[in-house]
Amino acid sequence: MARQMVMVGFLQAQNCTNLPMSWRHPQSRLDFMSADYYQDIGRVLERGKFHMGFFDDRLAMPDRFTGDHAHTVEHGIRCVKLDPVAVLMAMGMATSRLGLGATCSTTYYEPFHIARQFATVDQLTGGRAAWNVVTSLNEGEAFNMGRNEVVEHDARYDRADEFLEVVHGHWNSWDDDALVMDRASGRFADPAKVRRLDHRGTHFASRGPFTVPRSPQGQPVIIQAGQSGRGRRFAGRWAEVIFAAARNLQSGHAGYKALKDEVAAAGRDPAEVFVCTLATTVCAPTRAEAEDKMAFIEQLPEEIDALSLLSEALDFDFGSKGMDEAFSDAELAGIGGMQTMRDGVVRASGKPNPTVRDFITFSGRARPHGAMVGTPSDIADQLEELFTGGACDGFVIAATHVPGAYIDFVDLVVPELQRRGLYHRDYAGTTLRENLGLPRPRARG
Ligand SMILES: Cc1cc2nc3c(=O)[nH]c(=O)nc-3n(C[C@H](O)[C@H](O)[C@H](O)COP(=O)(O)O)c2cc1C
Repeated sequence: MARQMVMVGFLQAQNCTNLPMSWRHPQSRLDFMSADYYQDIGRVLERGKFHMGFFDDRLAMPDRFTGDHAHTVEHGIRCVKLDPVAVLMAMGMATSRLGLGATCSTTYYEPFHIARQFATVDQLTGGRAAWNVVTSLNEGEAFNMGRNEVVEHDARYDRADEFLEVVHGHWNSWDDDALVMDRASGRFADPAKVRRLDHRGTHFASRGPFTVPRSPQGQPVIIQAGQSGRGRRFAGRWAEVIFAAARNLQSGHAGYKALKDEVAAAGRDPAEVFVCTLATTVCAPTRAEAEDKMAFIEQLPEEIDALSLLSEALDFDFGSKGMDEAFSDAELAGIGGMQTMRDGVVRASGKPNPTVRDFITFSGRARPHGAMVGTPSDIADQLEELFTGGACDGFVIAATHVPGAYIDFVDLVVPELQRRGLYHRDYAGTTLRENLGLPRPRARG
């Protein structure tokens, strides 16, 4: 069968999408603290045969700008953040095939805790769980989690490596056939098939035995979105779905190759790892209608949205500088947050020392930057070009507003992709691994 796209919905358990302005869109639902809201989104994605809905997360509201949360709360800049794993379960209960991904940080939790959470979700949803592995990069998260400072960039990934070793160790510590549950003999499980992990490492100690029997997928699917060299190396070692943000076919192709090379370098099969690139789509039956929709959306963002989210992502207070003041070499070098975003702005602006305004313009943060706008066929053309041009294996579809943007995508773009043979017409199985075509890992005895 011809290669087909993997489709993921980029979801947020919060008051807006990844674009803070979205809550101001008149067609956005505002009942984001109800199960109903997430369940309706899940049903839309499943109707469109999305492989997965995935919730992003961060362990703080964006209050790095001016060191205060007043603007964040006042403007609704991603200030409400529900627990994504709890939300995932609500979505799981309203769907039966949709994969269910949530973000959890390796910087502050214990691996036993995360292993148990995702194994539980996998059990209760019949094998649809996925974990987006992140390292926490900003000050607010450190302060909320009992630390005084952020862990340095590469050290975060070193810790994450060991975190994953422990999590997989626990997931592999029950054999598939360990449960006996024979009432007659009184034998519940075979002790020879349940092992202790006895991990003692640099960052973690975890004894076990793990308390969740082996789950339907064997191991929940691992997602990662590292962009830096160290981040890509981490993704190459662990990830089965990798999120990327291709700016165009050429850079997407280079990024895709670099990620697949990392997978091969880690001794894994690049064909069993899916690179999904971010796409924001604005679709309507005619081009004029789509352009009108986009024109309306484009006047919703406020400057404060970008300043706040840039401060959060780069872990630097953009309120400490004037709009047209250039960043010094030392300030640029000191950025410990998303260094790839910093480097992208330097490259795109053509300035070694960009200003605050350059960061707003060239990062596209908080705006529907690079959105694909047009008819179903226009959008399918753009997705097809990236997919067949070797820039990705699929897409993480971000929404200008919910659920409307997903309803448009599912009703308009999905049938066009299916007609072109680029996207599946139905789920291949019941677990996320089956739907992605990934093998079920064996437990190591
Ligand atoms: C589609 C996508 C989703 C992401 N979701 C999250 C998230 O939920 N939480 C988070 O802290 N970072 C998220 N990130 C950021 C990455 O995890 C990563 O920190 C960032 O790309 C910088 O990479 P680096 O750490 O290798 O420099 C996401 C990135 C992309 C492209």
